[in-house]
Amino acid sequence: MMQEKFENKIAIYPGSFDPITNGHVDIIKRGSRIFDEIIVLVAYNPNKSFLFSVEERCQFIREIFQDCKGIRVDFHDGLLIDYLKHSGASTILRGMRALSDFEYEFQMALINRRQTKNVETVFLMSGFRWFYTSSKLIKEVASLGGSVRGLVPENVHQKLMEKFNIKNNGK
Ligand code: PNS
Repeated sequence: MMQEKFENKIAIYPGSFDPITNGHVDIIKRGSRIFDEIIVLVAYNPNKSFLFSVEERCQFIREIFQDCKGIRVDFHDGLLIDYLKHSGASTILRGMRALSDFEYEFQMALINRRQTKNVETVFLMSGFRWFYTSSKLIKEVASLGGSVRGLVPENVHQKLMEKFNIKNNGK
C-alpha cells in the first residue's frame, strides 16, 4: 500500500560543523539540487568538545552560502527530532564517507525513526575528494601547524590559522 507523500521538500542537514569542511559544502551543494530548501543545522553532539563556538560555526556557514537561495542556517541544542517537527521538515540529509561512518549513521537514522515515523534520513555519498577528511583530523593537522588549505573553505582556513596562531598564510 502506498504511503502518504511528505508535504514539502525541505531537508535538514544537521551536524556539529566544527568547523564546516569542503566535504560538507559538497553535500550541501549536491543536496540543493534535490531539495527545494536545505536547513543547515548546527546541532548539539554531547559526545564532542568544540573548538569553535556555535556562533562562529553558524557564521562560517552563513558566509559561505550567503548568495545561495534555498540554503538556510540555524542552530539547535535539543533533540533533532524536536527541531524537525517544529520546522515542518520530514527529511534528514547526511553525508556518508567510508564504511566506518556506516554504523554510526545507521544508529542515528534508526533512533530518529524510532521517535517519529514521519521522518526519513537520506544519505549522499561523500565526494571522492573528501572521502577521508573530517573536521577532527583537519583540526588536529592545523593545530600542529600542518596545511589544511583546500580541505576547508577559505574563511574557515583563515580562522583556523588565527586560532592556532600560525603565521604562514601561504601554506
Ligand atoms: O557532525 P556530527 O557530530 O556527526 O553530527 C551529529 C549530530 C549533531 C547530528 C547528532 O549528534 C544529533 O542529532 N544531535 C542532536 C541531539 C539528538 O537528537 N540526538 C539523538 C540522535 S543521534
